[in-house]
Amino acid sequence: MRTKLIAGNWKMHGSLAGNLALLQSVAAGAATLPTLSFTVLIPFPYLPQAQALLANSACSWGAQDVSEAASGAYTGEVSAAMLREFGCQYVIVGHSERRQRHGESDARVAAKALAAIEGGLTPIVCVGETLAEREAGQTLAVVGRQLDAVIQGLGVQRLPHAVLAYEPIWAIGTGRSASAQQAQEVHAALRQRVSQSDLVVAAGIQILYGGSVKPSNALELMGLPDIDGALVGGASLNADDFLDIGRAAARA
Ligand code: PGA
Repeated sequence: MRTKLIAGNWKMHGSLAGNLALLQSVAAGAATLPTLSFTVLIPFPYLPQAQALLANSACSWGAQDVSEAASGAYTGEVSAAMLREFGCQYVIVGHSERRQRHGESDARVAAKALAAIEGGLTPIVCVGETLAEREAGQTLAVVGRQLDAVIQGLGVQRLPHAVLAYEPIWAIGTGRSASAQQAQEVHAALRQRVSQSDLVVAAGIQILYGGSVKPSNALELMGLPDIDGALVGGASLNADDFLDIGRAAARA
């Protein structure tokens, strides 16, 4: 039985004052849901605040990107070792907003996932198709290509140290989530693809769904056989909504 992970992707939101109540509420709520794992993926400057507030709580914390390099002349980048110093457990890699806005290739995403694992972090590796790709019937080919790069870059033996997230780009921030059938189909296909390399790894790997997850659709999505949690954007900025998604996942 795979533990469900409820991960909040704050994106570029937050403030020192505003985070205080949000983090405290999430930590308190997470403590009431011991069958789940909770994490918040927050902007870099707030990592010390999260470390101070969430240490020894039921909610871990992490970042939204990591450099594939360990150190050096990489202006603006942050290494896995730096994130570990602030107690990060998880880091998102390959979010579509970074693939699209920063031109991150499949190979670069895989390199970041490898750097994260070697630095002691668990990468949450995002894959997902555009609306045009879905309408052209290319969804499974696109996410398969993105996943293959990760399997190749990490080697299947390191894959248990990663989490996958299926995030259809057309569902992110749009209020329109994938239907249960669409999500389950892709999640099953991703697991099947991993099983071509290793059956045991495929059975154990967590595959999160992301894209307009909210309290009203969480129960249905989290009840699907190949969905092992949620990567939640907008709804993670409201403690009640984020925790309600967790409550739905615990019931599902
Ligand atoms: P959303 O974002 O929940 O606001 O759609 C999800 C994500 O981008 O991770």
